[in-house]
Amino acid sequence: MQLYGALGTVGAPLIKYPTMTLTLPIDIDAVKGFLSQAEGEALYETVLRCKGRAPALEIGSYCGKSTVYLGLACQATERTLLALDHHRGSEEHQPGELFHDPELTDASGAVDTLTSFRRTMTAAGLDDTVIPVLASSAQFAATWSGDLSLVFIDGGHSLDAALADYRGWASRIERSGYLAIHDVYPPPETGGQAPITVYRLALASGLFREVMAVDSLRVLQRI
Ligand SMILES: C[S@@+](CC[C@H](N)C(=O)[O-])C[C@H]1O[C@@H](n2cnc3c(N)ncnc32)[C@H](O)[C@@H]1O
Repeated sequence: MQLYGALGTVGAPLIKYPTMTLTLPIDIDAVKGFLSQAEGEALYETVLRCKGRAPALEIGSYCGKSTVYLGLACQATERTLLALDHHRGSEEHQPGELFHDPELTDASGAVDTLTSFRRTMTAAGLDDTVIPVLASSAQFAATWSGDLSLVFIDGGHSLDAALADYRGWASRIERSGYLAIHDVYPPPETGGQAPITVYRLALASGLFREVMAVDSLRVLQRI
């Protein structure tokens, strides 16, 4: 687990990541997904650091693994989590692709993670905290106009999708709020380059400084 980012850090040193082991209300390993425990705890910690009461937004919930960490922290801080996902999977989840899971399909064979997501939310006691948004990121960005305390980008990993998420949502983050980006992989051979492109754009904008780096998760704070 990497605790401190070695990537283009701007401004103040990274926040020391506490050695935290949360007690979760469910067996998180039983939830299908793509997040390490350390990344989940870092997301939890980041929500606790949010100051305003504005909702947090997750882009890309899948079966709810990251939503559990974000949702529990929102519950503890009395804020709402908007969990945005069309639940039809990203490119890599489609039939024939590397991360396709035949257990996550509807009767027609199309990817469908909504049932699994809802089951996770109920089991974790998060139904009153998490508002599932069944839409594409672009659709919802055209509708929602409020401020956000945190935006977590973990949706489509094509360059177009990641850029749309950044351009659609980063400007809604309130001052001193947070932008968290998952799957940031500096060497191209270790992972797709769309999330790191967004990460670099955010830092280059001068609007954000990096405050936390855990595994492939990067957390930036709006200046
Ligand atoms: C990598 S998974 C998210 C993993 C999840 N955060 C976890 O902790 O396991 C990406 C999710 O983003 C969703 N997604 C992809 N593109 C999207 C878009 N444009 N709008 C909304 N959701 C999208 C997919 O349906 C998929 O469930």
